[in-house]
Amino acid sequence: MSTQPVAGKQNSNAVQAPRPQRPPNDLQYHWLPFTGNRDFKSNPRLFVRAEGMYFWNHRGEAVLDACSGLFTCAAGHCRAEITEAVAEQLGRLDYTSSFLRSHPLSFELAERIAGLTPGDMNRIFFVNSGSESVDTAMKICVAFHRARGEGQRHMFVSRERAYHGVNLGGTALSGMVKNRESFGPGLPGVVHLRHTWLPENRYARGQPDAGAELADDLQRLVELHGGHNIAACFIEPIAGSTGVLVPPRGYLQRLRELCNEHGILLVLDEVICGFGRTGRAFGAQSFEVMPDMMTMAKALTNGAQPMGAVAVRNHVYDTIVDAAPEGAVELFHGYTFSAHPAACAASLAALDIYAKEKLFEKAAAMSAYFLDSVFALRDLPLITDIRGYGLIAGFDLAPAARPGLRGHEVQRRLFDAGLHIKTTGDAGILAPPLIAEASHIDEICEKLRAVLSRY
Ligand SMILES: Cc1ncc(COP(=O)(O)O)c(C=O)c1O
Repeated sequence: MSTQPVAGKQNSNAVQAPRPQRPPNDLQYHWLPFTGNRDFKSNPRLFVRAEGMYFWNHRGEAVLDACSGLFTCAAGHCRAEITEAVAEQLGRLDYTSSFLRSHPLSFELAERIAGLTPGDMNRIFFVNSGSESVDTAMKICVAFHRARGEGQRHMFVSRERAYHGVNLGGTALSGMVKNRESFGPGLPGVVHLRHTWLPENRYARGQPDAGAELADDLQRLVELHGGHNIAACFIEPIAGSTGVLVPPRGYLQRLRELCNEHGILLVLDEVICGFGRTGRAFGAQSFEVMPDMMTMAKALTNGAQPMGAVAVRNHVYDTIVDAAPEGAVELFHGYTFSAHPAACAASLAALDIYAKEKLFEKAAAMSAYFLDSVFALRDLPLITDIRGYGLIAGFDLAPAARPGLRGHEVQRRLFDAGLHIKTTGDAGILAPPLIAEASHIDEICEKLRAVLSRY
């Protein structure tokens, strides 16, 4: 049976709900992102508190978090170590920019992140979100090629069904139609590989066997556009937001080979996969592929502060920096809040928790139980496919009258049943905090079964 928490004590077994809170009288002023505002405002779903594996809604009911917030809270919610580190930092040095100055924690954090990234990927550029990390990485790619005399490399390759955030670069890279269609063509010069969902891979658990050859689309794009014009190929190790597409065996390796052959940088967007989701620090390590750059955000601070980062291999940094005159600014790029002291403090505290509680290893150990439990839902008639790896899984729902309707309705019903998941269109996505115990996985699957079997 399900367990429920006591406020002030993580993963404990009884309920002590916060007092119900009325939604604010007037909801019109906040324009919610990625939300049907009219629908939401007619039936608001508010969280007023969170701890460990649970949120509480404004009615005072516990809601089990099956998506780590939004892939952010890997160590669970409201970790005291992070709260204290942020409060302490804000009391000591609330703000400095990192333009021409910085503060000790930014260097300490960069070194800690470099300790987690693969190989010689040891230079870290700080930003404030996943979208900023993607657009920053695009600019670094172009700057790298210009610095080595290949300024004609302006094109980018990404993939259908990819999600790389919502800034202009990321919108152009992304391959989810709803995120693109309202905004015109976006940046020119972005071309897409086919996605890797194949009917023969339905219900594949872990990496599917079929589909490595889809990477050869890159060769076709090279032949069509000229490999010497392509700056980089952006790929999520697991395409997360589209409903969890795990890379076919050999697919990422093939992309790496083709990038090497044509001088194209390989950028892995680790915004969801990073920090233990796949059972290792990054998807690059789980899938044994060495990128030139990685983007990250979300669990970088356990979601407690907005922060993202781009990690680059030493030679990429050296090429850009060495090409500039002595003493000059080498990369004309950065944000007012790059390496914000409170975000650095949150991230260092989060990384401490990940290491102390061995959360990446815990995720790897819990993966089989998680995937077994989720795949056991395949008998439900509403479910038409399940995919998963590490502690992330996606399932497809038979659509209703128009695409997305069923997913939205299921998401609302699950919320009312005390379960928070992410849906995209008619796909559901599960990515519980890495602290999840078997009892939480059971509770997630029981709630899913109860709601989905009503169809
Ligand atoms: C792979 C990937 N890249 C980029 C982003 C954008 O991150 P943010 O919403 O922090 O801008 C996301 C968000 O889900 C993501 O999944």
